[in-house]
Amino acid sequence: MARPVQIVPSVLPADFSRLGDEVRALEEAGADRIQWDVMDGQFVPNLTIGPDVIAAARPHTSLPFEAHLMVQRPEGMLPRYVEAGCEVVIIHAESTTHLHRVVDSVGELGARAAVALNPATPVSAVRYVLHLLDLVLVMTVNPGFGGQRYLSTMEPKVAEVAALAGELGCDVDIEVDGGVAPETIGGAAGAGANVFIAGTALWRDPAGIAHAIADLRSRAESARGPGLSAASG
Ligand code: DX5
Repeated sequence: MARPVQIVPSVLPADFSRLGDEVRALEEAGADRIQWDVMDGQFVPNLTIGPDVIAAARPHTSLPFEAHLMVQRPEGMLPRYVEAGCEVVIIHAESTTHLHRVVDSVGELGARAAVALNPATPVSAVRYVLHLLDLVLVMTVNPGFGGQRYLSTMEPKVAEVAALAGELGCDVDIEVDGGVAPETIGGAAGAGANVFIAGTALWRDPAGIAHAIADLRSRAESARGPGLSAASG
């Protein structure tokens, strides 16, 4: 059974001085989940938020949270993100020496484990941990900043993840992140992605975030074709 289309805002463009209001507004706008971009200034050349900020926003919405950990050696702080209310924890394949152990420990903490692949990282990096994962994130930009150009050269990698999941009998979400917009989401959905992170495209829509989310969702569903779209109800 194909997994449904999900539109997941990245809060990077949000007004950080009133995050509680912002996450509540995203829920009212029809978002399916919220992504927190955690950057440590080491793994990526930018510094954003930690678990305390996520925990502060937790009481303001019932939407599920995912933590996208763009940090070196994430294993040290995993429990903090689960305690902060994240049900999905995304580890970068390039950020740790012991990927199998780290994703295994995410599961032991009761969260859904996921692995992100930077643009240059091959799909083979998740082959031997795919059975432990609920989601694979194919980065469609080099991580670290919002507002970058979408890399359509990552679409064959999305298709490769879908094929590997089929080959190994693994049921996973396939997520893309970076430059997702009305003009790019169709390519990613057609390649096999079902979860779409969007930042700039939501906040820049003159008709508002609810319009942007509905527009992205319908474009993704129509690009996935009849067989896949049915699953998304
Ligand atoms: C980049 C982050 C993305 C980014 C998406 O490293 O992982 O989530 O904020 O923003 P847009 O949609 O503006 O590319």
